[in-house]
Amino acid sequence: MSESTDSRPLDLEAFPPDFSWGTATSAYQIEGAVDEDGRAPSIWDTFSRIPGAIDNGDHGDVACDHYHRWPEDIALMKSLGIDAYRLSVAWPRVVPGGDGPVNKAGLDFYDRLVDGLLDAGIAPSVTLYHWDLPQALQDRVRDSRGGWTERATAEHLATYASVVAERLGDRVTQWATLNEPLCSGWIGHLEGRMAPGMTDITAAVRASYHLLLGHGLATQAVRAAAPGARIGLVTNHSTVEAATTRPEDIAAAHRMDAHTNRWWLDPVYGRGFPVEMRELYGVELPERPGDAETMAAPLDWHGLNYYFPVTVADDRTGPVPYAREVRLPDVPRTGMDWQIDAGGLESFLLRLTEDYGVREIYVTENGSAFPDTVGPDGAVHDPERTGYLEEHLAACARAVRKGAPLAGYYAWSLLDNFEWAYGYDKRFGLVHVDYATQKRTMKTSGRRYAELIRAHRAGR
Ligand code: FCB
Repeated sequence: MSESTDSRPLDLEAFPPDFSWGTATSAYQIEGAVDEDGRAPSIWDTFSRIPGAIDNGDHGDVACDHYHRWPEDIALMKSLGIDAYRLSVAWPRVVPGGDGPVNKAGLDFYDRLVDGLLDAGIAPSVTLYHWDLPQALQDRVRDSRGGWTERATAEHLATYASVVAERLGDRVTQWATLNEPLCSGWIGHLEGRMAPGMTDITAAVRASYHLLLGHGLATQAVRAAAPGARIGLVTNHSTVEAATTRPEDIAAAHRMDAHTNRWWLDPVYGRGFPVEMRELYGVELPERPGDAETMAAPLDWHGLNYYFPVTVADDRTGPVPYAREVRLPDVPRTGMDWQIDAGGLESFLLRLTEDYGVREIYVTENGSAFPDTVGPDGAVHDPERTGYLEEHLAACARAVRKGAPLAGYYAWSLLDNFEWAYGYDKRFGLVHVDYATQKRTMKTSGRRYAELIRAHRAGR
């Protein structure tokens, strides 16, 4: 966990010369300006108003005010020396009603942002859906139970995707359809800790199906609108361990792996949904002929978001997948209480390579929250985040040496931002944000990242 300038322990030469160094953010977490220029509410605007849903009653109304401060934020990216920036487009800015009329002012914002990035020599990587579903689609069904539980939402995603690709596709090459459908599906509809806040296995299974269908339909739509587009899906994964060698715990680990990992990868790579989980969930999938092929549309790349591993024990009293997370004592953890294990990143990169045959991978998110403070010298020293970054880059380098086709790494996140149910308390940025003044301060980890990027470039 040093803040030294020695980059030797990190095998930077493992990364290919054209490796893409980047940072990532998402619209609702940084933009603010929630009711400007024709943007309509998303399910996160609604969810964050539910008392108790978000720590401190926080919401994204202002966030990092990136909607107005984006030129300053591009300057920060430039000072980091990154090659690429992963951003998401807010669906409720572009098609405020979810389907129907396009809001020109919303598209204009992303147009300016993309041009600004390109002027700075930074390649935009655009994610179409990072959880901010237009509330209007959620409200289409009684008691706001529409949204992803409805097949039509998948079709609307594709229409919205083609609108964005038609406008930006002449300048944006890298596209992702969805960010972390697991969070939208399981956390939003089964665990209730994210928007739209449901706790219903039927809704969750239907949502998961329609999310992956939407991914497939949006892939086709972007390809049709922007023939040069390189399209991927961003999924989040954890390596899963059994708490003991008891057969029940080992079976629980298999179930958790299928629930967390295979449910989201197998259909996309042509294997269909894991049969044992279909039985376990006991919910009929809303399948139609051709859907399986749509979900498995060939992709140009895969985006892996990795943060932590999980350890589980059998637990028949809890919800599906009847696997309770066991908190290991004496292991390093971040401020999210997430276990730190860079080896999990290495092994998941190799699993995508060897098991799923992925031929181009990006780490689209990886990072850590710690309670940073601005010191008396005006600087933010964050040795723990720096250590996390270095360890995980070292894990990436090991995976590359073992054959993983890793093409880029995007640190989460450029800025401290609205961390969903945790509000503004959890800081993931390479750049500190003082929310009272909107002052940005590059943290030591950001400087270290810039240094590593320069060192890799010097060896190119
Ligand atoms: C991921 C999300 C991202 C951010 C990080 C910490 O699950 O994609 O928006 O909140 O976690």
